[in-house]
Amino acid sequence: MTLLKLQHITTSEVAKRSFLSRPPEPPATVLLSDPFQSIYIGTTKIFKVPFTWSYINLTNPHIAVVGITGAGKSYFVKTFLIRASYVWNTNAVIIDWAGEYKAWVNQSAGIVVSLGKGAFLNIMDLSGMKPLDRTKQIITSLEILTDIGDYPEQRRITEEAIEQAYTNSGFIVYEKAPEGKQAPTLKDVISLLQEKLQEGTYEYPAELENAIYRLRQFAREGEDYFARQSTIDLGKLTTSGLVDIDLSSLPDERFRALAALFILQSLKERMRSEGWSETKGLKALVVLDEAWKIAGDDRSDAVMIVREGRKYQFGLIVASQNPTDINEAIFSNVGTTFVLRVKFEKFLNYLQSSMSFSSFIRSEITKFGVGQAAVEMAFQTAIRFPETFLLERIQGEEPLYIYTIDMSDVLTQSELSANVLPKDFEFEMDELKGKLIEYNVSGNSIDSLFAEMDAQSRGIKMLDFIRELSKSGTSIVNIVSFLKSLSIDDLLIARIISSSGVENG
Ligand SMILES: Nc1ncnc2c1ncn2[C@@H]1O[C@H](COP(=O)(O)OP(=O)(O)OP(=O)(O)O)[C@@H](O)[C@H]1O
Ligand SMILES: [Mg+2]
Repeated sequence: MTLLKLQHITTSEVAKRSFLSRPPEPPATVLLSDPFQSIYIGTTKIFKVPFTWSYINLTNPHIAVVGITGAGKSYFVKTFLIRASYVWNTNAVIIDWAGEYKAWVNQSAGIVVSLGKGAFLNIMDLSGMKPLDRTKQIITSLEILTDIGDYPEQRRITEEAIEQAYTNSGFIVYEKAPEGKQAPTLKDVISLLQEKLQEGTYEYPAELENAIYRLRQFAREGEDYFARQSTIDLGKLTTSGLVDIDLSSLPDERFRALAALFILQSLKERMRSEGWSETKGLKALVVLDEAWKIAGDDRSDAVMIVREGRKYQFGLIVASQNPTDINEAIFSNVGTTFVLRVKFEKFLNYLQSSMSFSSFIRSEITKFGVGQAAVEMAFQTAIRFPETFLLERIQGEEPLYIYTIDMSDVLTQSELSANVLPKDFEFEMDELKGKLIEYNVSGNSIDSLFAEMDAQSRGIKMLDFIRELSKSGTSIVNIVSFLKSLSIDDLLIARIISSSGVENG
């Protein structure tokens, strides 16, 4: 038995107790910034204070977004980009691995560049750089994406041939390229290596052959997306409003990564050459969504942008289902982290150790609904409140869709008026989809179920719902587990099953 002991204490002692002196949310003065210089995200969970994001007091404008599939990462990014463009006229370049943003960018009057579907990038383009610097970047990309790093001789002859190709096209390798002068392509580099092979004077023909073979992977007819003259003006990427670089039509991950690395390199150069500007706000945001290969590698320019971006008003947004795929140097240095729903212990451990939030916040993160988030901000000056707080929901530009399963065909009139049994069950669309997936309902059945509910203002009667599930092949065991997961008691479940007639069907 526990004894409750009453005691007299002074108000100053009470004030020292952590809850009162250290509320679990930053003070409103920190959460709310000048609306003309900040972006509205949503209200906080505990005190319902509107949270507007601004990078002014943060260590940098970079953002990491993590969460399981369907948690709301891309939705957050879209909301953020649209509002940044209202507030600061911020330009955005989305490196769109899976083509997820294409439709939205089209709808928002942005520009979609579909690589692999008519658009080409010449990875030897200079946009004002010195050919020597570009050569180094191309080699770094090859090191990240191929095994060239393991073969120093092949690396050397490749580098030499790239420089030679620039010289042959009339460039001076150690001088900034004149604007508008056409760069050579990887095909020219391959030709140079082939000539050398044919001359027969080079000591290690096998090395040459392998170097040629490696480059050819990116220059084959039909797959020469990066070995032809560019159809995009890279210099304009960061000043063209909303630009989606859709990589989803490229044949594989290596091609996508090469495109992404090259675009990051060009953006970084642009950032450096434009230099410091006095204007307020953020000039450009670069989005890397699920681009693990390039967000994870130390040599990727994503790391560089995180280090130097602040002074150029250039922000990076990295979104991923797996926080351990984001390079440490990025993850531990971003000014803001949004953690949406995360389930895996491994990821929670990682997040907790790097952000050091409480076990309360940890358990909340595992229970988040769509769009709910924990936010951590790194301030420039020391603060006296916890850095991680909860958001009720990211309030975006799209409505949430609520679906209802109605119990009026299960309960009697008197039960309905007695109000003791649940009259209906409400779900957010993705929550219900997620649940159905959990109980092995097929994708096609889910789609037809939703089509039916959409036709009836997003609602369905319980018995019809159960019959539909059964018709689409869901077993009684799974149907019962689904009902249990709604905390319906066994008696009522038995009634639902028998009234629906599915056990005999
Ligand atoms: N804050 C929110 N308010 C309303 N709807 C939301 C919110 N966040 C996400 N959604 C909706 O939930 C669905 C899934 O969101 P989203 O595509 O952003 O997930 P994701 O985390 O990017 O998933 P994935 O990892 O699979 O790309 C979408 O239909 C989206 O419209
Ligand atoms: Mg997404």
